[in-house]
Amino acid sequence: MRQVYPGGSALTDAVLAALYDYPDLGPPPARWLRANMVASLDGAATADGRSGGLSGEADRQVFAMLRAHADVILVGAGTARAERYAPVRPESEGVRWAWLRDGRPPSPPIAVVTRELDLDLDSALIAGTFPHARTIIITTSSAMPGRRDAAAARNADVIVAGEASVDMKAAVDALAERGLQRISCEGGPHLLAQLADAGLLDELCLTISPLVAGPGADRIVTGGLAMPGGHTLPFRLVHVLEDESYLLCRYVRPSSWLAVGAEPAELPQDVAEVEADRLFKLLVGARLRVPVGPPADELGGVPEPPALHVVVAHLDYPLRAQRDER
Ligand SMILES: NC(=O)c1ccc[n+]([C@@H]2O[C@H](COP(=O)([O-])OP(=O)(O)OC[C@H]3O[C@@H](n4cnc5c(N)ncnc54)[C@H](OP(=O)(O)O)[C@@H]3O)[C@@H](O)[C@H]2O)c1
Repeated sequence: MRQVYPGGSALTDAVLAALYDYPDLGPPPARWLRANMVASLDGAATADGRSGGLSGEADRQVFAMLRAHADVILVGAGTARAERYAPVRPESEGVRWAWLRDGRPPSPPIAVVTRELDLDLDSALIAGTFPHARTIIITTSSAMPGRRDAAAARNADVIVAGEASVDMKAAVDALAERGLQRISCEGGPHLLAQLADAGLLDELCLTISPLVAGPGADRIVTGGLAMPGGHTLPFRLVHVLEDESYLLCRYVRPSSWLAVGAEPAELPQDVAEVEADRLFKLLVGARLRVPVGPPADELGGVPEPPALHVVVAHLDYPLRAQRDER
């Protein structure tokens, strides 16, 4: 156990942004799905029906910075309605983080998951977007075709992913195939539950707000779903920051981290050990190293345990030896 607060020094914007870099991803269909949520000390996802009552200045800054990092913002229609979502406006929103968009369009599009298409089609979210970031409606084949066509006619891109319900995997795959590989989900709790249930949640950025909200509000994950196989999902803490008693935590799924080829050393502990008996999702291009010997502390000074190196390559790709592979 160790104390992480108080201590540390103020972070520059460059260092702060680097703490939230997405891992390096190969070409599509590789993708990384981060969720960014805020909760009160007693686990509420809202105060007075909105998340804004839980937020503080640091949380708002990180929220804007995560938007700047992302290729697309994914959100449930419930949140889009409750929080009156509008396109990200690069001229007035997140200006402090504009440099993170160098080489990319100045703002990411918003992708809204909806079955009912109960959205104001004349709102700025649908009709007032920028050519570089048209809002994406992710819906079902059974959704009213008239509403779908009307949304498309206004300015939205429509993705059909599923029949009665949006299939979350098909939805995020469709985003990645459009080159929108760095996905930042801003909730809400019903959408997040389904993404977690489908095993798609790679990362959770969670702000803990120094408030007790009282009973009644949803948690950040809600709905009638059990977690896969009835299990809880393990995450590892990457960092925790503090500002005005708000805690800003970044957690990743160890199996996701390994699947994109990040080295276990980039996490505070040996992730291979954490989930050694679980199935990994491995994408083409992933490289991982799994220790197969006894724990290092039993090796009596031997610097590195024996390891199994795994390289995932498509059969059509030439299998090139990596310089640091053995
Ligand atoms: N604490 C936080 O960080 C945070 C973050 C975000 C939101 N919030 C709060 O959470 C509340 C909204 O969250 P919520 O959980 O009620 O709603 P939500 O998850 O944002 O959206 C639910 C809606 O998304 C659509 N949807 C979800 N799954 C679908 C599927 N499989 N297929 C098709 N459509 C699907 C449906 O839209 P249709 O009804 O249009 O079919 C559904 O009603 C608000 O109060 C908001 O302020 C808090």
